[in-house]
Amino acid sequence: MPIDASIEDWDAIDWGRYLLASSKNPIHGQTTKAIEGFDEVARGMGKIFLTPSHPDTVREAFVTKADALRLSSIRNAILKPVLRDGLLTSEGERWKHDRRALAPIFTPRHVNGFAKGMARTTRDHLTRLLAEDTVAFDKVCVDLTYQVLSDVLFSGELDGGRQASLHDIDKFLSSMGRPDPLDFTNLPKWVPRLTRVGRMGVVKRLRKRIGLLGEARRTKITAGDTVPDDLLTLLLTATDADSDTLTPDQLVDQLITFIAAGHETTSRALTWLFYLLSQDTDARARMEAEVDALDMSGPAQKWGESLPYTRACLDEAMRLYPPAPFLSRELNRAETLGGHDLPEGAIVFGNIWMIHRHRKLWDQPDAFVPERFLPGAERPIGRFQYLPFGLGPRVCIGAQFAKMEALILTALIAREYRLHLDGPHPWPLARVTVRTEKPLMMRVEKR
Ligand code: HEM
Repeated sequence: MPIDASIEDWDAIDWGRYLLASSKNPIHGQTTKAIEGFDEVARGMGKIFLTPSHPDTVREAFVTKADALRLSSIRNAILKPVLRDGLLTSEGERWKHDRRALAPIFTPRHVNGFAKGMARTTRDHLTRLLAEDTVAFDKVCVDLTYQVLSDVLFSGELDGGRQASLHDIDKFLSSMGRPDPLDFTNLPKWVPRLTRVGRMGVVKRLRKRIGLLGEARRTKITAGDTVPDDLLTLLLTATDADSDTLTPDQLVDQLITFIAAGHETTSRALTWLFYLLSQDTDARARMEAEVDALDMSGPAQKWGESLPYTRACLDEAMRLYPPAPFLSRELNRAETLGGHDLPEGAIVFGNIWMIHRHRKLWDQPDAFVPERFLPGAERPIGRFQYLPFGLGPRVCIGAQFAKMEALILTALIAREYRLHLDGPHPWPLARVTVRTEKPLMMRVEKR
């Protein structure tokens, strides 16, 4: 993909330009130095930035010395106003407790149990979503993954007000989920960020709608009614020795986090995959042949065993377009990383986008080559150069869920439909996730 057009060489006095470009689209904040060399260190705006890219430094920063990191103030400025103390944004004891309490629902046993529902929901909605000759495929994918999340984690109860919730979440992720140039400075939080003024109404509405849903379920549990065995019930009943059940506010924080983290990411993986396949008809034909040969009457959680090439296509799509492209942290103490002595407060910027296209880590870094992910591929892929789900203690809790979901949805779409690009090539825009800058128009061919 033509990433070169977005690479600029920023020199030391170019910070103003750099910040404006990064704020508009953080993908434009790539530097040639970072993508060709390892572990770039930069200074500016009173801060030191390390962008680790050597696999050893990536491991050192995010695994071995992970306790030296806290979530960065830029990340918090983007996500905290909405997600507050949800799992993605909490830290310290709160995060430890919640991660432990939530882990049981994402074990392979539980996740496998969701497969059937994922397939059923997809079958129920696909005909409606792909009914037109031409569709905005990015929107189709968001709608579908939202529906799946709603059904398997919340037993369909999010469905009331689906369009309104989708609209609000989309608005939040595309506008709130964008760094303001002031976020890169040391200015305090109370200094208004003009790019965010007037958008808190969306957040309030969303929190209210989700709060009502949670409290309705809580009332049922308290009354001893039969309730579904899903994430919502688990959240409401999760207790351990040192805490009570979640307060209404904490419940909304977690619900909104799982909605935000759990569907847009997966939808981006599907969007970019089908775009890439529309450009590589050989890969598409190979994938379709594999999907056509699949016995779909077998348990959906086992489909992956018969779809190695489809899985490789998904892995490769998430390499080129990692749905969640940045791991943004700060040092909570002075620390040495990759041989660089860094002070407390230094920014450690895990740039997954850049690592996934690094000139020294990949052959043909910008090309779509699913074969590199097949078992027995010529050049093994190291654990610390391919990071779509992050790494270390804060690795994505929903990774198994997402991989299974993406595979089931891909198989069901590819079995029935072929998508053709019907408009300009999409350009990636990094907000919280990597979306297409404009709607991805695709012509739908029924196979
Ligand atoms: C293709 C789909 C997905 C991708 C690429 C993805 C990627 C990521 C990444 C990179 C992180 C780490 C963020 C960081 O360290 O700053 C993360 C964290 C997280 N993800 Fe995902 N994710 C996906 C799907 C999901 C799903 C389906 C769920 C839930 C149903 C989910 C829930 C979360 C949560 C709650 C966290 C925060 C974990 C913590 O900090 O303890 N994600 N995800």
